[in-house]
Amino acid sequence: MSNRVNFDDYTDNYNQLLKEKTQFFSPSEEYFARYKVEIVRKQVRAPVKRLLEYGCGIGRNIPFLQHAFPQAVIVGSDISGASLETARQENPDIEFLLEDDRTESMEPFDVIFVAGVFHHVPVDQRIAVARKIAGRLAAGGSLFVFEHNPYNPVTRRIVSTCPYDDDAVLLKPSEMLGILRAAGFRMERRSYCLFIPPSLPALTSLEPHLGWLPLGGQYWVQASLAP
Ligand SMILES: C[S@@+](CC[C@H](N)C(=O)[O-])C[C@H]1O[C@@H](n2cnc3c(N)ncnc32)[C@H](O)[C@@H]1O
Repeated sequence: MSNRVNFDDYTDNYNQLLKEKTQFFSPSEEYFARYKVEIVRKQVRAPVKRLLEYGCGIGRNIPFLQHAFPQAVIVGSDISGASLETARQENPDIEFLLEDDRTESMEPFDVIFVAGVFHHVPVDQRIAVARKIAGRLAAGGSLFVFEHNPYNPVTRRIVSTCPYDDDAVLLKPSEMLGILRAAGFRMERRSYCLFIPPSLPALTSLEPHLGWLPLGGQYWVQASLAP
């Protein structure tokens, strides 16, 4: 691992870099945001009044979250102030918060969505970050974490050549689960995902049956607060 990446430096070209790295799978980088939010929408059955995207970056997922949970108050947060500025410009009706040591306690959220954040958090700070997230989840609420799958060689190759992944330390699902448990979560579901490119629509219906197979580009975990 080298120096910590500052996402303030990538607000202008984040989408372009993502597109370059992933166009073999989907020509549109929006596909990944829509895909993840759709997984969350399908899993959540209880009404969602408040939803937090923790580590929202430039806000790529926010419009899809708004569309999937139209009744919810949606909040985005990140440690990158410049990313949040971009997110605000693109999503003027959404509240965005800078995550710093002074971030105040807030009304709990029914759903917290965290995509591609933990592999950027220094290893020795991951449990503390997960605890902070736990402190914001409502009783009965759901946390969804999406992470790169380190067992997939294509994913590893993308990460090793992407400038904003310079500080990435990927987590195996078992490591992610250990962190969540240590922070007071109970695992509800887990699945590998992103197996089949959208250019093969006839095969995408197979995806839900492949969740056990550790070859998806990413994986996700749904967790709730342990009793
Ligand atoms: C790869 S980007 C993903 C952004 C967004 N979730 C998405 O899917 O497009 C990772 C983001 O995590 C943020 N981040 C890293 N460490 C964080 C922390 N401890 N708390 C909140 N955000 C963090 C970075 O600033 C960056 O915006």
